[in-house]
Amino acid sequence: MHPNSNQNFQYRNPQQYMQRGPTPYQQQQQQQHFQNQLTQQQWLRRNQLPSTDSPVEEVEKTVQSEAVDQSSQDWKAGLKTPLPDTRYKTEDVTATKGNEFEDYFLKRELLMGIYEKGFERPSPIQEESIPIALTGSDILARAKNGTGKTAAFCIPALEKIDQDKNAIQVVILVPTRELALQTSQVCKELGKHLKIEVMVTTGGTSLKDDIMRLYQPVHLLVGTPGRILDLAKKGVCILKDCSMLVMDEADKLLSPEFQPSIEQLIHFLPANRQILMFSATFPVTVKDFRDRHLRKPYVINLMDELTLKGITQFYAFVEERQKVHCLNTLFSKLQINQSIIFCNSVNRVELLAKKITELGFSCFYIHAKMLQDHRNRVFHDFRNGACRNLVCTDLFTRGIDIQAVNVVINFDFPKNSETYLHRVGRSGRFGHLGLAVSLVTYEDRFNLYRIEQELGTEIKQIPPHIDQAIYCQ
Ligand SMILES: Nc1ncnc2c1ncn2[C@@H]1O[C@H](COP(=O)(O)OP(=O)(O)OP(=O)(O)O)[C@@H](O)[C@H]1O
Ligand SMILES: [Mg+2]
Repeated sequence: MHPNSNQNFQYRNPQQYMQRGPTPYQQQQQQQHFQNQLTQQQWLRRNQLPSTDSPVEEVEKTVQSEAVDQSSQDWKAGLKTPLPDTRYKTEDVTATKGNEFEDYFLKRELLMGIYEKGFERPSPIQEESIPIALTGSDILARAKNGTGKTAAFCIPALEKIDQDKNAIQVVILVPTRELALQTSQVCKELGKHLKIEVMVTTGGTSLKDDIMRLYQPVHLLVGTPGRILDLAKKGVCILKDCSMLVMDEADKLLSPEFQPSIEQLIHFLPANRQILMFSATFPVTVKDFRDRHLRKPYVINLMDELTLKGITQFYAFVEERQKVHCLNTLFSKLQINQSIIFCNSVNRVELLAKKITELGFSCFYIHAKMLQDHRNRVFHDFRNGACRNLVCTDLFTRGIDIQAVNVVINFDFPKNSETYLHRVGRSGRFGHLGLAVSLVTYEDRFNLYRIEQELGTEIKQIPPHIDQAIYCQ
């Protein structure tokens, strides 16, 4: 790991950086050309079973089943499904048991939302957790980043909600405001054809507005723990009928920062509540909470290896003062569709964003010290492809799902393996390919070694040339 060992990895003038292909925004526009008749044969399959009944019965059944066929075809044919995603996907999401969403006997309106979101069949974690969650059992589920944990809990949550009952029936807790917004959006999209009221509530927004909103019906509440606890304590957020509590990024929610709020919040729930815990990382610290609050939880662990198959990980050994230069080189050499660049402090995020802009590259930045309105705007605009690069703190390390991100750069190397894993998992979403490059200084060398050991992964030194095929398909 010598600083000069990447000799062929030369720095280039920023002007040489080219805008390659359509921007994420343009791609998204293209994807919005919906096609109405996706895989009609798939729908037909189930209705074509042979019958051994008498001819008269057979005729009646045929007439009946044609009517059923017709009605089932009607709703499916009328769906506005996006174009199928034909990009290469890894086994992390393709190694399924072959279930279909219809196998779970979900409400038709929910199935419509699922298919219109472009989900053709459940991912491995969805196959494991949806049927179990529907039985009412507590779940502790571990699955890799980007493999569909959100829908794995949102689908059973939406299925179980009684839309005629005016009460909060599900609470989904997440550690950051941006993730709360993203998750509530997923609930709204999946539940588009249901009459379920979804509310999102986080710190940094008007408490008064939330109180007013709670006077209207809310079935599903998504938010950060502090704000929900606040509303529950004030008696405006009534959780006595909330029979399902979801903790996404559960290990983060059990860190000292959040755990006291979670413990208090649980006391507002009825005794018969179901708790679902999801994350890609479950350090041993979660055990105590699990033993105290979960009842015979069904444990799912889809992480026999820890890193995503589609992400290639490299490090570049640099001195601190070479980092910006090195980033400049990466920008000029890599085929970045969109990138997320992580720094270890708010200050460094701002300084780096300034430097990147001075170098002539487009870049946004986001961190927790910014006003929430501003944060929301950056998140929204970056997601819509308004900018190619985003510099951030660990605020964006967990759960953030932006399909167009194919490159993650650790400008500062993280201190622990959970953070490393989640950061790297911002690219390569849903089994797609991605690239993670970490800038590593002499001081980071032990952390690099430890993280490699803990994750059982080899992070290789960056080669002079990186084949686009490994992160651009
Ligand atoms: N069954 C499915 N078919 C197609 N795409 C899916 C399916 N399920 C989820 N996705 C897509 O996969 C992406 C990643 O999903 P999600 O954000 O739920 O992953 P995650 O497991 O929660 O990851 P993380 O650990 O990083 O939070 C999303 O863009 C989502 O729309
Ligand atoms: Mg997630």
